[in-house]
Amino acid sequence: MLKNLLLKYDKQLPRYTSYPTAPHFSSEVNREIYSSWLQNLSPQKTLSLYFHIPFCQQLCWYCGCYTKITKRYEPVEDYTEILLQEIRLVSALLRKKNHKVSHIHFGGGSPTILLPDSFENLMRVIRNEFSIAENAEIAIEVDPRNVGEEKISAYAKSGVNRVSIGVQDFNREVQIAVNREQSFDLVYSCVKLFKKYGIKNVNLDLIYGLPKQTVAGIAKNIDLAMLLNPNRIALFAYAHVQWMKKHMRLIDEKDLPNGASRIEMYLAAAKKLRKAGYVSIGLDHFAKQSDSMVAAFRSKKLKRNFQGYSSDKADSVIGFGASAISFLPNGYAQNILDFAEYKKNILAKKLPVLKGIKISAEDRLRKKIIDEVMCYLEVDLMQIREQFDLPENYFENEIKNLEELKKDRLISIQNGVVKINPEVPQITRIVCSIFDKFFSADQKRHSRI
Ligand SMILES: C[S@@+](CC[C@H](N)C(=O)[O-])C[C@H]1O[C@@H](n2cnc3c(N)ncnc32)[C@H](O)[C@@H]1O
Ligand code: SF4
Repeated sequence: MLKNLLLKYDKQLPRYTSYPTAPHFSSEVNREIYSSWLQNLSPQKTLSLYFHIPFCQQLCWYCGCYTKITKRYEPVEDYTEILLQEIRLVSALLRKKNHKVSHIHFGGGSPTILLPDSFENLMRVIRNEFSIAENAEIAIEVDPRNVGEEKISAYAKSGVNRVSIGVQDFNREVQIAVNREQSFDLVYSCVKLFKKYGIKNVNLDLIYGLPKQTVAGIAKNIDLAMLLNPNRIALFAYAHVQWMKKHMRLIDEKDLPNGASRIEMYLAAAKKLRKAGYVSIGLDHFAKQSDSMVAAFRSKKLKRNFQGYSSDKADSVIGFGASAISFLPNGYAQNILDFAEYKKNILAKKLPVLKGIKISAEDRLRKKIIDEVMCYLEVDLMQIREQFDLPENYFENEIKNLEELKKDRLISIQNGVVKINPEVPQITRIVCSIFDKFFSADQKRHSRI
């Protein structure tokens, strides 16, 4: 059985939302370097802007995001003020501000914690400081427990045209086990309100591998999700990284499904979603035929970034807010995580950069391979060799290291094309790790497959 074979490879691996991955960022990228990257960014480059809002009202015990819990609004208000200053600081460094912005994303944490006026003001400042393309995608991550008609109307007025709603699981027992209770009716009325205000692109976030989940329960989640008719579904594999996120220890590990059940959960959900007409994209996304992600996938324009997959056309991402990561042609730069430090830097008119990595020619080549594998579950090594002008035996070691996976029928290799068996997309990160120059299997700093 493929499922049993897959378990043989069950180990801790990066999620490859970047390459090189974030644990390899260092002080080699500082504010001076990032500043020069911004100043030299060609105005022909389209931009994607990412705004991190690291606040939530209640802690979900499975949460792997960078966020802080607050019951008061003052810290959020204070943070938003600083964020506005960061936007002005960065935009002043961009040559003539001529770059077209094709994508804006508000992530978190829970950006829906912002009051309607604050959000509208934030969007106003962004529009003043950047040149936003007319057809730009403006997306926000939504916690259905803290949105209502007033906020949704503010999003519509500000041009938001895509929302990702955090659902995770509809089952009450699971919800209690992760400290996140929200009814189906709450999500249903939230979706209805978005549609009423003309925001038609609705994504749902679901997770498999949470405590108390069963295969039947996951199938039921998909049935319920289908009643909401979403454009996309992200079906994330729960990353239990309790050594990094201490609050995950609140989850009783004996309630966590084992590796075999996790695979069955994914397969059951994927089968139902495909039957309902959704196209399976990459490791964990499903989208309607009409969705822009399917077009990007078919035309090989799909992108892998810190939010997962994106149909975003931009070449560069500028991240704003504590912990936000930017991706420019020269490399990655991450902002300071600590709020007080982040604020101190902004008030001193300094870019709040903590660390990052410059991308070498070798990194670029490996990033290309890893992105292809993550996005399309296959890579044509012959084509890559031609594109990067490499000798014939360049991937000799990697091909050797892929042999066992091939023997186990988890991948195929023909004429230089490495293909993941579509029945077991979970193997994708193993294949990527074989091409990852920085990866060492004994570094247990990642989540399991
Ligand atoms: C920033 S949250 C979305 C917005 C909002 N905070 C919410 O939860 O409703 C991003 C998504 O990451 C996913 N997520 C969070 N922690 C995770 C983990 N440990 N493993 C897998 N997915 C996770 C959840 O599906 C969540 O909806
Ligand atoms: S999953 Fe979302 S709502 Fe829950 S703590 Fe994490 S960021 Fe906040």
